[in-house]
Amino acid sequence: MANAIKMLQDDHNSFRMLCKQLPTIQNGAQDEEEKAAVQIVSILQTHATLEEELVYPVLAESHPDLVKHAEEEHAEAKAILAEIEEMGAGPGLRDVVLRLLESVEAHVAEEEETLFPLLTETLGVDGLEDLGRVMLGRQQELMQDAAETTGAAATGQPKNIYPKM
Ligand SMILES: [Fe+2]
Ligand SMILES: [Fe+2]
Repeated sequence: MANAIKMLQDDHNSFRMLCKQLPTIQNGAQDEEEKAAVQIVSILQTHATLEEELVYPVLAESHPDLVKHAEEEHAEAKAILAEIEEMGAGPGLRDVVLRLLESVEAHVAEEEETLFPLLTETLGVDGLEDLGRVMLGRQQELMQDAAETTGAAATGQPKNIYPKM
């Protein structure tokens, strides 16, 4: 079973859980902070790519303004992701991640309220299953790419703890 909405919703839930976790990490616990940041960046990058490549196009014709607005919000979030990627772990990371969370929180809520119901209306249950299967395949590819990037860091190449966008 790979329902597209369920997959997207699971990502949103993981993202929210990580958001709640971050402020509970003790100041100065850099490893944990870095781990949470890497997870947040990785989830968001994969999620945004799946939405842009496979989900938004479903509604691009019927709801162009909605899709354009969502893409603008992604662009805003990606600018902050790039900032995080550039600065890496250390002082200041928490503030930037919190700014990212603030920027993305409203976007995910909007998707759940508006975009997901439209997607269900447009595709129906079977269509959501089909889309979910395609998304799952693409998700695995993206995660594989990300793992290779992180693996390169471990083998002494220039350190890049964040997966490629
Ligand atoms: Fe989105
Ligand atoms: Fe989303």
